[in-house]
Amino acid sequence: MSKKVLVITGSPRKNGNSNKLAASFAGGAMAAGHQVEILDACTLKMDGCHGDGSCHERGYCGLKDDGVLLHEKMCWADVLVLVTPVYWKSFTSQIKKVVDRLYPFAAPKPRAACTVKESYLLATANNPDPAVFRCLKEEFDLLNTLLKFEKRGVILAGGLGAPGAIDDHREFLEEAVKMGMEV
Ligand SMILES: Cc1cc2nc3c(=O)[nH]c(=O)nc-3n(C[C@H](O)[C@H](O)[C@H](O)COP(=O)(O)O)c2cc1C
Repeated sequence: MSKKVLVITGSPRKNGNSNKLAASFAGGAMAAGHQVEILDACTLKMDGCHGDGSCHERGYCGLKDDGVLLHEKMCWADVLVLVTPVYWKSFTSQIKKVVDRLYPFAAPKPRAACTVKESYLLATANNPDPAVFRCLKEEFDLLNTLLKFEKRGVILAGGLGAPGAIDDHREFLEEAVKMGMEV
């Protein structure tokens, strides 16, 4: 069955490691016949969540910025793929803003329903120690719990500093292609 896959990237480095992971995953998914859209969170003109909780009454966010586009994409996709470098042990601020703006979908009795049912996380970091991803994994798990997504796959690619470093670690790119094909 063909799925709609929304890949949200969060690195400001266009030729960076995480964007290459995203491209590999997307290539695999498209080769398997899925529809893929890549949304670069760095291009979104979007405020952070204002936190007044009014989205839980209204059913959607009241801010009229690129969050509207994010909402539309979340009501189109079957699968969400979050792609981020580790910044200070967490998501980049660009991805964090996206995650915060998913709050309308996390109401106890949500009036807003997104179509996403499954999720993936692709992450890169300079530190080769897998422990560097601990916070990120916890945040991703919380997102899946609150939004009732089934976590389908995670790639944690450590030991990557400079933008092209992943080219010397083809194993991560190959894993991403394979994961994309198995969506
Ligand atoms: C502001 C900033 C914070 C970072 N924090 C961490 C960190 O906490 N741990 C780590 O291992 N790497 C850290 N890094 C390195 C990046 O995670 C690493 O270079 C990653 O591969 C960049 O991915 P990209 O090429 O897709 O941008 C940081 C980089 C920046 C610019």
